[in-house]
Amino acid sequence: KTVFVLNGPNLNLLGTREPAVYGAQTLADVEQLCAAACARHGFALRFHQSNHEGALVDWIHEAGRLHAAGELAGVVLNAGAYTHTSVALLDAIKGTGVALIELHISNVHARESFRHHSYIAAAAKAVMCGFGVKGYGLAIDGLAGL
Ligand code: DQA
Repeated sequence: KTVFVLNGPNLNLLGTREPAVYGAQTLADVEQLCAAACARHGFALRFHQSNHEGALVDWIHEAGRLHAAGELAGVVLNAGAYTHTSVALLDAIKGTGVALIELHISNVHARESFRHHSYIAAAAKAVMCGFGVKGYGLAIDGLAGL
C-alpha cells in the first residue's frame, strides 16, 4: 500500500524558516525520514510539497483513487497555514474518504490563537503536533496501526 505525505505552503523553506520553531532539518531530510518509516512497514511513499492549495486538493483526490482501489495506507498532511483557512481541503478529505493524519511540526496550541482552529481536524483520523519533524515518522507508524 501507498502512503502520501503532503506538505503545504512554506514547508519548502524548512531548515532556514524560523529554526527556533521548526528546527534545522530540511524538507529533503523529512523525505528521507518518511522513506525510512515507510520502508519499516513495507509502504510505498509519495512525498510532495506545494505552496498552492489546489495542488494539495489534487493530491488528496489522487490518494482517494488509490483508497477506492484498496491501495492506500493513508495520508499524512501538514497543510501549513491552509490548516487554519481551507474549507477546500476539508471537503477534499470528506469527499474522498481517505484516512488522514493532520500533522504539525510545532505545537500549534502553544502558539498564536489563530493557529488553534483547524478546518481539517474534523475530517482527520488523528491529529499530531509538537513532535518536531520526528512526528512524520510517528504518523506513518500510526497509519500502519490503523
Ligand atoms: C505548521 C503550523 C502552521 O500554523 C503554520 O502555518 C505552518 C506550519 C507546523 O508544521 O507546525 O506553516 O503546520
